[in-house]
Order: sequence, then structure tokens, then C-alpha cells
Amino acid sequence: MFAQSIVAALVALPFLAQSVLAADCQRTYVAKQGDTCDSISAANNASTYQLRVNNINTINQACTNIEIGQTVCLGNNDDKDCKSTYVVVGGDSCDAVASRHGLNSTMFNLNNPQLNSDCDNLYIGEVVCVLGTPTVPELPSGSPVPAATVPAGATPAVSITSAAASTSSAASSTISSAAPTITVAADEDDDEDLPFCDEL
Ligand SMILES: *[C@@H]1O[C@H](CO)[C@@H](O)[C@H](O)[C@H]1NC(C)=O
Ligand SMILES: *[C@@H]1O[C@H](CO)[C@@H](O)[C@H](O)[C@H]1NC(C)=O
Repeated sequence: MFAQSIVAALVALPFLAQSVLAADCQRTYVAKQGDTCDSISAANNASTYQLRVNNINTINQACTNIEIGQTVCLGNNDDKDCKSTYVVVGGDSCDAVASRHGLNSTMFNLNNPQLNSDCDNLYIGEVVCVLGTPTVPELPSGSPVPAATVPAGATPAVSITSAAASTSSAASSTISSAAPTITVAADEDDDEDLPFCDEL
């Protein structure tokens, strides 16, 4: 009898946690077969980051543990619930997405804090907040930043062409900044080796 009620309490615990979460949460969604974190985000206008933070204790980093029938929190408080979202496509960059929505990069990064400064972790299918006011849920202290890496099987948004272009522009700027040093060295060489050069 005693043992049985302990078992019942242990079984009830996850459901209790879930219903507390659902009660706190202003926008919820019940997971269906075939859902992924980003499909839920895209269909319900809740950014990838926001969805993860709002379910930080129930959804794992790779988002592989959502169960059919599970209540997912989409948005919590109005001032932390970004309902203006955009689904990333191939070739998007943070700057391009931000400017297309009339946002500066400060605002864009504030509402999408998982994106790194190079924006090379933006991926196709990622759902970003494109609101012009700070509207982002707080990450509980000690929690790793969710969705900070391109998920397995996802494709970075920056195309190979533009990645190659930025590599070659980085290479050319390295060459041009190195050029003055080379010129100086050549001048010194010229002065010292002038007779030798003449001989040649
Ligand atoms: C999501 O936002 C788009 C425009 O940004 C809008 O057309 C759509 O109705 C919204 N969907 C929901 C579920 O709010
Ligand atoms: C970015 O945009 C926000 C909202 O429009 C504005 O408050 C802020 O001053 C801007 N920041 C910069 C660096 O322009």
C-alpha cells in the first residue's frame, strides 16, 4: 500500500511538472506525430530560441524527446513572447534577414541570442524573431544556450558561394595588409643588394 503510493507519486511527478509549466505558460501547443521543435516554431510563430528556453527543463538540446501529446510552451509573458518570426532559407545571413525586416543587428541579436557574431550557426529552417522591440525569454542561469549550434542534419544558411567569397576577401585583405611589410623589406633588399642586382 505504502510502496504503491510512492510509485504512483513518482509516476505523477513528470505530469505535475508539466501541468505547472502549462499553467504558467500563456501560449501552448500539444505535440503531434511528426513534429520537430522547428516545425512547431514555424507553425506557431515562436522562435527556435524562445521555444527552447520556454521548455528548457523538458526538451533536450537535440530536441529528440518530444512526445506525442506533450504540452509545449510557445510563449510565456507578452513582453517575452515574440510572435513575429521568420523561417530561415538558404543564402540568408543575419544582416540580410535583419535589414529585410527593418532591424539593426543589435536588435536582431538581442532577440536571437543563440546566433554567434559570425552568424555561421544560422541554419535553414531555423525560426528567428524579427520584432523591433526586445522580446526574449530569460535563459535560466546555468543553462547552456539552446540551439547555439547547427543541428545534426541541418544545413547552415550561408551558402558555399558566399562563404567562399568571404574567405577570399579575408585572404585578399590579409595580402594587402601584408603588402606594405613586403614592400619595406624589398626596399631594404634593393638598397643592400643593388650592386649585386646590377651585376645580374
Ligand atoms: C505568423 O506570422 C505570420 C506573419 O509573420 C502570419 O501571417 C501568420 O498568420 C502567423 N501565424 C500565427 C499562427 O500566428
Ligand atoms: C537599433 O534599433 C533599436 C530599435 O529601433 C534602437 O532603439 C537602437 O538605438 C538601434 N541601435 C543602433 C546601434 O542603431
